[in-house]
Amino acid sequence: PYPNLAPTPPMGWNNWSYYTCHVDEKVVLDNARALVRSGLAQRGYRTVTVDDCWMAKQRGPKGELLPDPVKFPHGMAYLGQQLHAMGLKFGIYEDVGTLTCEKYPGSLGHFTEDAKLFASWQVDYVKADGCNVPTTPGHSKEETYRDLYGQMSRALRAGGRPITFSVSAPAYFQFDGDGVWHRVIGWSSQLGNLWRGGRDVALQQSTPAAKWASIVYNFHYNANLADLQRPGRWNDPDFLLAGDSGLGRDEMQSQMSLWAMMAAPLISSTDLGKLSPEALAVLGNAHVIAVDQDPLGVQGRIVAQDDHSAVLAKPLQNGDRAVALFNSGDTPRTLSVTAGAAGLPEASSYRLHDLVTGHRRHSDGDIVARDVPAHGTVLYRVTPAD
Ligand code: DGJ
Repeated sequence: PYPNLAPTPPMGWNNWSYYTCHVDEKVVLDNARALVRSGLAQRGYRTVTVDDCWMAKQRGPKGELLPDPVKFPHGMAYLGQQLHAMGLKFGIYEDVGTLTCEKYPGSLGHFTEDAKLFASWQVDYVKADGCNVPTTPGHSKEETYRDLYGQMSRALRAGGRPITFSVSAPAYFQFDGDGVWHRVIGWSSQLGNLWRGGRDVALQQSTPAAKWASIVYNFHYNANLADLQRPGRWNDPDFLLAGDSGLGRDEMQSQMSLWAMMAAPLISSTDLGKLSPEALAVLGNAHVIAVDQDPLGVQGRIVAQDDHSAVLAKPLQNGDRAVALFNSGDTPRTLSVTAGAAGLPEASSYRLHDLVTGHRRHSDGDIVARDVPAHGTVLYRVTPAD
């Protein structure tokens, strides 16, 4: 398998869902500085990834990838130096097909040279998309993707620098039936450290309602993939939208808490210069981040659900369990689960730490969250008391 370069889920920032193709050196460095200034870098958000549209439309005379000279006037090695000087890591986007989704040069046919170039730019993280993959005569779609992602994976390994590898392949098989995407995730987890599943979260220009719907969709999609995750090999349900997104505080908190329960990569995509105190508190909550980054590396599972709620439980290294009670409905509700159903050992009582409000209390065998607001999630760390 690919080297285990992400023992806990990757954390950082990516321009895509907020800026799409309107990305340049200033956007990236301004957001990088905001990561440091806000304290989020200190909390673990360190990998800054430039998504699609950073390149020139054509390769250079020797076949080399070139940055867009207007967007990145000082080049990508400079960008990497600046990020590293801030104590951050440098992530970059490519595609295994002939072109990226936005029609910039893809890596197909250039895997070795591109990987060497990225290593020479001191890149730490590569996100490899799967648009514009040609059909190969005599090979299935899956065989072709597997071959191309395999080529990129081997090229990165041979490039002489440890580069965390994010594989988008499963997102291109999500409508091909369960058996197929289970298999695709199987090989993706051998070739890289994390892989995208589900849809893209809705972009900045869409309505808050569409953003929320995309979060709920990816939550359910990703929760079903718990069996396919292993420590160091992460399902990626896409970006965190806390920030300048129009989502309510409870919605931002729900995404953060649910992503942490699923040990998902925590990759913010917003203008961090416009982070409200509320959004900063959501993204920077050290107790919630600790659930995500717990060294046991287990994806939490749904242990109870109905049409408008889900309860998840996640074992933690010290024997505690994180328990999340998510009200996806449009009216407040009291939600509960028994300690046994949440996988806790029998005890005379349990200590409940609400990781968002900080409130601590004791409980008997029922873990109850009263009046969970619409679209809200209560997240407890539960410790058997004896
Ligand atoms: C599709 C991916 O899923 C997005 O995250 C983003 O990378 C775009 N492609 C860029 O074209």
